[in-house]
Amino acid sequence: MSDFINNFWNMYVVVLVIASLLFCAFIIMSNKAARSSGPVELHGHQWDETLAEWNNPLPRWWVWLFWITIVFAVVYLAAYPGLGNFGGKLAWSSTGAYDKEVKDAEAKVAPLFERYAGMDVQQVAADPEARAMGQRLFLNNCAQCHGTDARGSRGFPNLTDGDWLYGGTPEAIKTTLVNGRNGAMPAFGTTLDGEQLRDVVHYVRSLSGLTTDNVRVQRGKATFAANCAACHGADGKGNQMVGAPNLTDATWLYGSTEALVTQTLQKGRNGHMPAHGELLGDKKIHLLTAYVWGLSNNAAGAK
Ligand code: HEC
Ligand code: HEC
Repeated sequence: MSDFINNFWNMYVVVLVIASLLFCAFIIMSNKAARSSGPVELHGHQWDETLAEWNNPLPRWWVWLFWITIVFAVVYLAAYPGLGNFGGKLAWSSTGAYDKEVKDAEAKVAPLFERYAGMDVQQVAADPEARAMGQRLFLNNCAQCHGTDARGSRGFPNLTDGDWLYGGTPEAIKTTLVNGRNGAMPAFGTTLDGEQLRDVVHYVRSLSGLTTDNVRVQRGKATFAANCAACHGADGKGNQMVGAPNLTDATWLYGSTEALVTQTLQKGRNGHMPAHGELLGDKKIHLLTAYVWGLSNNAAGAK
């Protein structure tokens, strides 16, 4: 657990700490003025014309406080980490304390997770307590990208609308969560010339009934068949195998304006959904799968 590259810095800290403690003790000892019963003398310094200082010893309680702090430091350093590499007799560490807390917390919820792990996704999604747990997991792990209400934003899919890039069956959702997903929409900025690009943008927008230039739509159709149909399908309805969105509906991941569709085609798009399988483990993934599935399949779940 050492952070030092070699023992020199370890010894340096040890010596520094011990020397400081000894030095503090020395200062206290060397300032110990004997209490005399006779008259107290003046120090001999004078400020502001008349302000003089009596040479009284420090109050006893104060000196004791100094000694107590020194003793406390010694006891503390014997018990807890602080003296160079020495971990202390109690072998306490912040990571150890954290691990124990996590373990205790997990032991407490384990039976609950266990129960839900044995139920299928539809049943879990119908259980209000499981939904509440799924929601908490979602807020902790997913909301930063998909929003607290799971409705997403540009580039981050809405998970409540029943429209899926990769499929909305429990199996497909689970695969998404465990392995993550990488959207790969190639850039056509160099493959297509400016006119072809504009034509195909018009064609794409025509698929969902947005206003377009009919001549361009006719020309764009051929460009689409040659360059886009492989992924988005001849009819533009998309392909969940590669996460190619349906271009004929009103749901847009990156925006439907001419400018945004042009940008999508020119530069390509690479949405990245990180893998969560290892991070969360089977049982949490199961709860989250049910939560996400419930958002669009379960009237009660989509709150
Ligand atoms: C770093 C941002 C980020 C985080 C965190 C994240 N996601 Fe995603 N997620 C995305 C992006 C981006 C996509 C779209 C991927 C694409 O464009 O191909 C996506 C896609 C998805 C999909 C597929 C949607 C579809 O239409 O098929 C699901 C389901 C999903 N995420 C659920 C979750 C859940 C549940 C969590 C939390 C465990 C989560 N995501 C965490 C960014 C994120
Ligand atoms: C190799 C497969 C592939 C090809 C070829 C391809 N696309 Fe895509 N396209 C995708 C994928 C995958 C996405 C989603 C990207 C993401 O999730 O980040 C996408 C996204 C899009 C979007 C964004 C949709 C939205 O909801 O915002 C549009 C528009 C689009 N493609 C149009 C086209 C056009 C037009 C062509 C042909 C010039 C084309 N694509 C060629 C795979 C492809």
